Amino acid sequence: MATTTDTMEKIVALCRRRGFIFGSSEIYGGIGGFWDYGPLGTELKRNIKDAWWFDMVRNPPPGPGGRVGNAHHTGEYQMVGVDCSIIMNPKVWEASGHVSGFSDPMRDCKLCKGRFRDDQIEEAVWASEWHAEVNEIWTETTPPNLDRLKSWASKKGKKLAPGLGLVREPDAVLAQLSEGVLEQIDESDRKKINPWSNLLFNPNGQQFACDTCPTCGGELSEPREFNLMFQTYVGALQDAASRAYLRPETAQGIFVNFKNVMDSTRVKIPFGIAQIGKAFRNEINPRNYTFRSREFEQMEIEFFCKPEEFCRPGEPTSMDWYEFWRDARIRWYESLNIKSEKLRPREQGKDELAHYSSACTDIEYLFPFSDEPQELEGVAHRGDFDLRQHGKFARGDDMAFAVINDSEPPASAGADSRTSTTSPVSEPARGLKSAVRYVPHVIEPSAGVDRFALAVICEAYCHDPDRASPEFMKFHPRLAPIKAAVFPLVAKDGLPEIAEPIYREIKKHLPCQYDAKQSIGKRYARMDEAGTPYCFTIDGQTKQDGTVTVRNRDDASQVRIDKSRCLDYLKDKLRL
Ligand code: GAP
Repeated sequence: MATTTDTMEKIVALCRRRGFIFGSSEIYGGIGGFWDYGPLGTELKRNIKDAWWFDMVRNPPPGPGGRVGNAHHTGEYQMVGVDCSIIMNPKVWEASGHVSGFSDPMRDCKLCKGRFRDDQIEEAVWASEWHAEVNEIWTETTPPNLDRLKSWASKKGKKLAPGLGLVREPDAVLAQLSEGVLEQIDESDRKKINPWSNLLFNPNGQQFACDTCPTCGGELSEPREFNLMFQTYVGALQDAASRAYLRPETAQGIFVNFKNVMDSTRVKIPFGIAQIGKAFRNEINPRNYTFRSREFEQMEIEFFCKPEEFCRPGEPTSMDWYEFWRDARIRWYESLNIKSEKLRPREQGKDELAHYSSACTDIEYLFPFSDEPQELEGVAHRGDFDLRQHGKFARGDDMAFAVINDSEPPASAGADSRTSTTSPVSEPARGLKSAVRYVPHVIEPSAGVDRFALAVICEAYCHDPDRASPEFMKFHPRLAPIKAAVFPLVAKDGLPEIAEPIYREIKKHLPCQYDAKQSIGKRYARMDEAGTPYCFTIDGQTKQDGTVTVRNRDDASQVRIDKSRCLDYLKDKLRL
C-alpha cells in the first residue's frame, strides 16, 4: 500500500514534471522556502483567487438573516476590495504588534550552527535518520545491546550524528547506562526513548529532544526570540530611520485604509474589505513543500461589525458573524471538492491565540505529509484591537477610527460632543435617538492561496494502476487549469481541418488546448495529469457522420456527440 510519504513524493514529482510548481531559481541551486508556479500552477492559482473573489466579494454568501444586500436589513452586509502596497510605513508594524511580538523562539546548534524553531525540534529529532537507527538498536532487545550502540557510535553515528553524547563520549554515556539504569526502565518506556534517552544523547543529562540538534545531535542554545519579518531599506541610506518591512500579512493594509474606504464609498457597518496579495515571513524551517513558505499569497477579509454591546435586539452580534464566516468558509472549501472528512474546524485554545484575537478557528486539512490535519485558514475574532492600535499610534486617540451610528465614516480625531464613547447599551442608543460611537469589531477569515493550492493538488491527485494513464488530477471544473482539449486522431486526412475550428470556438470561452502530436493514449495521459476534465477527438467517423468522441477524465468513459455541440456540452457538464 502506498504510504503518505510515497503519495507526497509522487505529487511533488508530477507537479514538477507537468509544470505546476518549480523550486525558485533552481538553476542556481534554488532557495529554501521560495517557489515558482509553472504554466499549469499559475492557471490553478489564478482560478483559486478568481473563485474566492467571485464568491466572497462579488457574490458573497447570504448573511445570517439569509440575505445579501446593502445592509438595510438585519444580517445583510457589503463587501469591497483593496489592493495595498507590500511595503508600508514601518509604524504600521509597531502599532500592529509585529515589531515586538511577531517572533518565534529559536534555538541554535552549538556544533553545526543549524537554527530551529523550539516547538518543532522534538518532531524533527524523531524524523531524523540518526534517531531512527539509535531507536532501533535501543528497542530491539531487552536489555538493550550496549555493544551494538557503541559500535554504531564509532561508525555510522560519527557520520549521522557527530554531536550526540553517545558518539562524542560513548564510554561515559554507556557507563551511566550500565550503572543500574537499565534495570529501572520497562519496555514501554524504552520504546518511547524518553526521558531515559537523554543519557544516550547527552552525557550531561540534558533533556532529550529539547536540547538535541535534529541535524547532528549536538547541543542546542537556550531559546531566543527571532522576528519573522523581512527587513529592507527605503531610499539611499541604509540606517535605522530608513528601515522598512515586507508585510507579513495583508490584513494591516486593510486596517490602515479603513477610513479611506468608508470615506470614499457608501458602505456601512457591517461590511467587509477583502484583499489578495503577497505576504512574506522569514520562516526558520520552511517545509512540507509549499505549505510553509517564506513568500506566499493570502486571501484575507477584515469584516467590520458592531461590538455586542451596541447591537439592537435581534441584530447579529460579532460572535454571530464569527460563526457565520467560519461556517461559510468551510462550505466554500467543500464546494470546491475538498472532502469534508479531510476538513476540520479546530477552535484554538486560549493559550494558542495570537495577541490580537479573542477567538480563532483554524480550518484544517489532512495533507498527505502529516497524520494530523494542518491549518488551511484561520477565522479570527480580532475584536477592536487593530483599529484602536492604529488610532492610538497614528492619531494619538484609540477612538479615532470609531464610527457613528454604523454609517458615518470615522470623524477626525477628537470626540463628537453628541457621541457616547463609553456607555454600553443605553436605551436612547438602542433606539438611535442619540448618536452611538464605537470602534467596530473585526472578524477575519484569512486563507493562504498557496496552502489551498497545495490542498487542491493533494485532493485532486488520483492513482489508479488499472488505467492506461494511472495518474490523473481530479480538479473541480472551476479550478482545472485547462477545461478541455481537442485532438485530431491523426494529423492528416482532413482531421486537423475539422478539429481546429472546434478548438478555436471553445478557446474563445474557456481555456482549451489543441494537440495533434503523439499517440492518442499519450495525449489523454498528458491531459489527465493536467486535470483536464474533457477531451474531444476528431476521427474518421467524424467525416462520415459529423460526431466526435468526448472522453471523460474521471472514468475514461467515451461518448459521441455532434461536433457542433462541443462548447455547449462543456458548458453544461462543467456547469460554467
Ligand atoms: N492576518 C492573519 C494571519 O496572517 P496567519 O494564521 O498567520 O494569520 C493566515 O496566516 C493564513 O496564511 C494561514 O492560514 C495560511 O493559509 C497562510 N500562511 C501563513 N503562513 C504561511 C506560510 N509560511 N506559508 C504559506 N502560507 C502561509
